[in-house]
Amino acid sequence: MATISLIDLMKSYGDIPAVKGVNLDVADGELIVLVGPSGCGKSTLLRMVAGLETVTSGSIEIGGRNVVKAEPAERDIAMVFQNYALYPHMTVRGNLEYGLKNRGTPREEINRRVREAADILEIGALLDRKPRQLSGGQRQRVAMGRAIVREPAAFLFDEPLSNLDAKLRVQMRVEIRKLQRRLKTTSLYVTHDQLEAMTLADRLVVMNSGLVEQIGTPTEVYDRPATLFVAGFIGSPPMNLIPVSSLSGNEVSAGLPSGTDIVGIRPDAFVLEQPAEPSLALEASVELLEPIGGESHLHVRLNSSGQSIVLSVPGRPEIAEVSDIVVHARLADLHPFSAQTGRRADNP
Ligand SMILES: Nc1ncnc2c1ncn2[C@@H]1O[C@H](COP(=O)(O)OP(=O)(O)OP(=O)(O)O)[C@@H](O)[C@H]1O
Ligand SMILES: [Mg+2]
Repeated sequence: MATISLIDLMKSYGDIPAVKGVNLDVADGELIVLVGPSGCGKSTLLRMVAGLETVTSGSIEIGGRNVVKAEPAERDIAMVFQNYALYPHMTVRGNLEYGLKNRGTPREEINRRVREAADILEIGALLDRKPRQLSGGQRQRVAMGRAIVREPAAFLFDEPLSNLDAKLRVQMRVEIRKLQRRLKTTSLYVTHDQLEAMTLADRLVVMNSGLVEQIGTPTEVYDRPATLFVAGFIGSPPMNLIPVSSLSGNEVSAGLPSGTDIVGIRPDAFVLEQPAEPSLALEASVELLEPIGGESHLHVRLNSSGQSIVLSVPGRPEIAEVSDIVVHARLADLHPFSAQTGRRADNP
């Protein structure tokens, strides 16, 4: 097990910057999830840690040792990719043993580790099969098994579940979390799926175009997004971002921190009845009611500005479409942002 530190880490491909200076300290045994839109530099960052990509500047420390110049094999790290990369002509057992044999691990030790990994992942009955005789989820387990048998200082995962169907993804996500809790191996996990990110992470790193927007526990990031980008990225449906200018008729401007020109309101922070606490009231017309099981998404258009916003409300409210309503949000639930800096306006 080990800590991982990234210090001013940068990577450019020619003159195109992919990672623009990232600082991150991963604690021993911690599971960090890197999340962000396509092309923001997640894989590049992970590949630099693995040693599969050179570093343009900055450093990477694993267990306190600078590994920037170390070969991948010298870094004591195991990586699990999206496409599994199993050897098709080898059995499951062969795939699990391959890396250990290459390192000259003694036979008895190989047997012990393969048996343990097969137990943990419940693939003991599959050891004599070839990858093509396995389901997607089973292949994914074998890929994980190959990482586990190495007993590395750290795991790196690059979208390991993105080839699986929705149900299997959820199952495997839970298993990865349990596995990581059990083995307590320091892990960096990349995904662009925010639900996966929220449920797996000890801490989230939200990235946007090569930079870190925010680092924090899933709850911290959700409850207090540091930037407009994070506010719009984490949460589904996304937070509504409403210009202060369209809050006409409300006295809130006085109560907002100076520099606020956008307020963020989560869909579930809206209510249809005026709350007892100090609140905001917005006149709107209903555009669409989408029932989604236990709750409904109510799409409304603000009378003041014509902006469309989304509310998530419990049950299936009896609201005729295209009717006029007033929606409310408690002032305590408003997230103040500055459009100019793109950051929260209430940071100390
Ligand atoms: N080998 C390369 N040569 C040139 N540019 C590259 C190379 N690899 C990645 N890039 C660029 O670097 C940026 C970051 O790519 P990266 O693969 O790290 O993104 P990502 O966050 O993993 O995206 P995704 O979610 O789509 O996997 C992108 O703009 C990409 O086009
Ligand atoms: Mg990627």
